[in-house]
Amino acid sequence: MPLVSPKDMFAKAYAGGYAIGAFNVNNMEIVQGIMEAGKAENAPLILQVSAGARKYAGQNYIIKLMEAALQDTDLPVVLHLDHGPNFELCKDVIDGGFTSVMYDGSHLPYEENIEQTKRVVEYAHARGVWVEAELGRLAGVEEDVKSDEHIYTDPDQAKDFVTRTGCDSLAIAIGTSHGAYKFKGEPKLDFDRLDKVAQLLPGVPIVLHGASSVPQEFVEMCNTYGGHVPGARGVPEDLLRRAASKAVCKINIDTDIRLAMTATIRKHMAENPADFDPRQYLTPARTAVKEMVQRKIKNVLGCSGKA
Ligand code: 13P
Repeated sequence: MPLVSPKDMFAKAYAGGYAIGAFNVNNMEIVQGIMEAGKAENAPLILQVSAGARKYAGQNYIIKLMEAALQDTDLPVVLHLDHGPNFELCKDVIDGGFTSVMYDGSHLPYEENIEQTKRVVEYAHARGVWVEAELGRLAGVEEDVKSDEHIYTDPDQAKDFVTRTGCDSLAIAIGTSHGAYKFKGEPKLDFDRLDKVAQLLPGVPIVLHGASSVPQEFVEMCNTYGGHVPGARGVPEDLLRRAASKAVCKINIDTDIRLAMTATIRKHMAENPADFDPRQYLTPARTAVKEMVQRKIKNVLGCSGKA
């Protein structure tokens, strides 16, 4: 089955009170692990590629990996650009066959964010491609971009932004953040703000970035086997499940896949010092990706059986 648009997926998720996982991919084992999990759970999937991942793997490799991944399955799968930094990159991936793009102008002054988002929307919509935009700012580290402060999304501004840009879905800031260090104090999300946005923008799928839960068993595994990620903490799974039951239709997960892979590889290396065939450690790492994605589908997203 060819790649699909997220349009129907989100409409069903919105009506059904669940969300679709958007999992970041960089290489073959990650693509395979996610696809295996989606098949095991019969769940719709979004595989997303950041500008950094595109640079690392190469757009052609990613497109060909996706073609191979889709060859023997009817699972609905979206290929999405995560945090598109400019019009040119959005255009390149649209021309290359991506079915969804995010243009991220959240760091720009408001009017400029509107102007740039509109430009991407015009190009994408003329080619049947979905556009996610962002308003507000998440703290944390995303690729090379670090932000120290949260700027929560203003609901009235969100309504104005979506109306004026024509974007299809909106990423908002309600307390999540990128990376492995999300909360110093008690973890919480601003559900009142989410409800207000949803009330002002009925039917518009909302996106949560920075939504890894940083499972403590993987933090411990990393730290036990020579890693150094002290005090890493994520968004509790029950808070995310609650968001998924509301207007949130897409939940972005990158850090948890990285942690699961790296912890598993570290453990394998420590326990098998004589191994030097990459297949020996990438096989359990790929299984760890699959298990992490299945865990997300069941505990967080609620999209098992929704393909
Ligand atoms: P995490 O760092 O919480 O996994 O978030 C990833 C993300 O939002 C990618 O856009």
